[in-house]
Amino acid sequence: VKTQLLVPAAGAGVRLGTPGPKALTQLAGKPLIVRTLERFASSGLLSGAVIVTPSEARDVFAEVLRGHFGDTPFVFTDGGAERQDSVANGLEKLEPDTDVVVVHDAARPFVPLESVEASVNAASEVGAATVAVPSVDTVLVSDDAGFLADTPDRRNLWVCQTPQTFQVDVLRRAYAAARKDGFLGTDDASLARRWGGKVKLVMGSRLNFKITTPADMALAECLIRSGGV
Ligand code: C5P
Repeated sequence: VKTQLLVPAAGAGVRLGTPGPKALTQLAGKPLIVRTLERFASSGLLSGAVIVTPSEARDVFAEVLRGHFGDTPFVFTDGGAERQDSVANGLEKLEPDTDVVVVHDAARPFVPLESVEASVNAASEVGAATVAVPSVDTVLVSDDAGFLADTPDRRNLWVCQTPQTFQVDVLRRAYAAARKDGFLGTDDASLARRWGGKVKLVMGSRLNFKITTPADMALAECLIRSGGV
C-alpha cells in the first residue's frame, strides 16, 4: 500500500494574530510546521510529502524545510482561499500510484504516531478514517439570537482532529461531489461521509490540539519546555 502525506499549511493564522503564515510561526525555537513534520520522521512518510503553502511564501517554506530536513524531497503546491481549496490543490500533486493519503494539519504539532498508524490501517480497511477524541465538554447548539437551542447527548459527540486518512479514490470522489454541489466543509471526512463513504473514528489524544489562538501557542510552549510532549 503506497501511502503519501499531505499537509495543508496555507492558513494565514488570522486568529493567532502573528504576522506571516501561521505554519512558519516560531514555537519554542522552531517553526510550527517543522515541529509537526518532525513527528513523522520515523514514519517513512516525510519523503515525497505534499506541502500546501501560501503561494507568496513557497520559497520561504522550501528554505526552512531544507534547513531542518536536508535533502528530504518535499512537493510544494499553492493553497487556496479555504482549507478545502488547499487540500484539493494538494490532491492534484499526489503520485499516480498512491493508494492512501494521510491529510494532517500543519497546525497540530503533537500528533502521536500511533494515531497516524491507526488511521492508515482503518482507512485501508474501510476507505476513510479520522482521528478524533470524545468530547469532554458538554456541547451547546445556539440559535441565531444567542440562546440555547439544543444540548446533544455527549456520548455521541467527538472532537475532530487530524490526520484524516483516505483511500485516494474515495477522497477524490468526495471532492468531486462537493465541488459539483458547491459544498464547503471544514474538514475532509465530512466530504467523504456526505459522498456516502464510511468513515471510521480512530481514538486520538487531547494533546493533538490545533494551534489556533495565542492561548494555544502559550500552552504548546509550556508543554514543550516542560517535556510533557
Ligand atoms: O483554519 P484551520 O485552523 O481549520 O486550519 C487547519 C489547517 O489548514 C492549518 O494547518 C492551515 O494552515 C490549513 N489551511 C490551509 N489553507 C487555508 C486555510 C487553512 O492550508 N486556506
